[in-house]
Amino acid sequence: METKTIRNGKTILLRKAVPEDAEQIVDYLKKVCVETDNLSFGLADMPITLESEIEYLKAIQSSTVSVHFVVLCDDEVIATANISGKSRPRMVHVASLGISVLRDYWHCGVGSLLMKAMIDWAKAGGVIRKINLTVRSDNQTAIALYHKFGFRYVGTLHDEMRVDGRSVDLDEMELLF
Ligand SMILES: CC(C)(COP(=O)(O)OP(=O)(O)OC[C@H]1O[C@@H](n2cnc3c(N)ncnc32)[C@H](O)[C@@H]1OP(=O)(O)O)[C@@H](O)C(=O)NCCC(=O)NCCS
Repeated sequence: METKTIRNGKTILLRKAVPEDAEQIVDYLKKVCVETDNLSFGLADMPITLESEIEYLKAIQSSTVSVHFVVLCDDEVIATANISGKSRPRMVHVASLGISVLRDYWHCGVGSLLMKAMIDWAKAGGVIRKINLTVRSDNQTAIALYHKFGFRYVGTLHDEMRVDGRSVDLDEMELLF
């Protein structure tokens, strides 16, 4: 658990999510997926329900390869990030990463705090040796954030996503440690 004053002067709390956070996380996702087109889903096709989120958070509580972090400000979830691991022995060292922050809190250093927390967590677990992620090729802020934490560009997947019928390219990035 980490408490910090961020660039806008507010105090935030960063910690691992627990099943009791599920309702707030779902409300957060409903908000953030409307604020940005950078995620793999919109409000109409949000793949997460309250029930699925509770089950998921219960399932990962003692995992060494999957984790979910939340950032709270004034008791409201303002950012989340997760690392999702794999179970097959040949793939268990590889995980994928996702992150988002509410628009009101962009460029305050919250994304960086989450990235550091996730990478530190993955390294401390001793199982994950590689983190993959996918990012819109035009998402300059996220790409800058990932470069800052050592991720390197792997390649571009063309027409990998369609947002309101418009074709979007995605970049694959990876971090090995
Ligand atoms: C991408 C995202 C997570 C970044 O979070 P954030 O809290 O704004 O990130 P930070 O404030 O820690 O900034 C991270 C880095 O972004 C870059 N950055 C910050 N402000 C920037 C700006 N105005 N223009 C370009 N790059 C900028 C910098 O490299 C910065 O690092 P620095 O502060 O050490 O210079 C956030 O913008 C977001 O949630 N966007 C919508 C969802 C999304 O795109 N998720 C990623 C999907 S792959």
